[in-house]
Amino acid sequence: MGESEKNIMKVEQFLDRLWENYITYTPSAKKISQLFGEKVTNDHIAFRTFNLDKCNIYKQADFLSSFGYKVCGDYFFEQKRLQAIHLENTDPVHPKIFLSELLCEDFSDELRIIIDNISSCFPEDPENLLIGGRNWNIEHDKYELLAKESEYASWLYIWGFCPNHFTVSVNHLTNFNELSDVNNIIKNNGFMLNSSGGEIKGSVAEFLEQSSTMADKIKVQFGSSTAEVPSCYYEFAKRYPEADGKLYQGFVAKSADKIFESTNK
Ligand code: NI
Repeated sequence: MGESEKNIMKVEQFLDRLWENYITYTPSAKKISQLFGEKVTNDHIAFRTFNLDKCNIYKQADFLSSFGYKVCGDYFFEQKRLQAIHLENTDPVHPKIFLSELLCEDFSDELRIIIDNISSCFPEDPENLLIGGRNWNIEHDKYELLAKESEYASWLYIWGFCPNHFTVSVNHLTNFNELSDVNNIIKNNGFMLNSSGGEIKGSVAEFLEQSSTMADKIKVQFGSSTAEVPSCYYEFAKRYPEADGKLYQGFVAKSADKIFESTNK
C-alpha cells in the first residue's frame, strides 16, 4: 500500500469515527440520512471552540493538516463574536471542515471566569479537540448565565469538543436535485427545519444554498438533576458553479450566521 492510500484510509477512518460520535447525540441525523435511499456524501463537518491557546481553530487545523487538510478561507461573525476558517482536503472526495471559535475577550468577566475554570480540563491530545467531548462537570446556573451572553458558549459548555454538524451535499444526491425537495422530505417525515431568515439560506447568486434541522433535544445531567438541552443539527447544502464553471467551495457568512441559530432553545 502506497503512502497516499494509507492517508486515505487514515482520513476515512477518522471521519467515520466523527460520524459515529455525532449520531450518539444527534439521533435524527442518522434517521434523516436513511431517508435519501442512497449513500450520502458530506459537504462539510463543522466544529466549535474557544479562541484560547489550548484549543483554538489553528490548533485544530494543525492536527487536521496530517490528514491532508489545508485552510482555504476565513470568516468573521460580528454579532456572535466568532471567527472561522474552512479547510479543504487535497482529495476533494473528502468533506470540507468548518472551524469556528468564540472571541472570549469580547464577553463579560463572568463568562470568561467560567471558561477559564473549565479550561484546565481541556484535552492535551489535539485529536480530542475534535472528538474528545466534555470532561468537566456542568452546572445549570452557569449554563443559563452563558446562554444569556452567547448561545454558542453555552452549547460548548455542555457538549465540549465534538462535531457540531454534518452537512449533506445535495449536489451528490441522485434522487434529489433541489434543496427545496430535500427540505420537503425532511418536513414530511416530522423533522423541524430552522426557519430563521427563511428555510433556505443563501441563493444561486451567492453560489450556495443551505438549510438545516433544528437541533435534537437531549437530556443532560447537571449535578443531581437533569434537563433537556439542544444538542446538534443536520445541514443540507447545494453549491452552484462560478464563472469558471467550477462549484463554489467557500461559505457565505450571512447564511452561516443564521445556521448557527439551529442550536437555539
Ligand atoms: Ni455548516
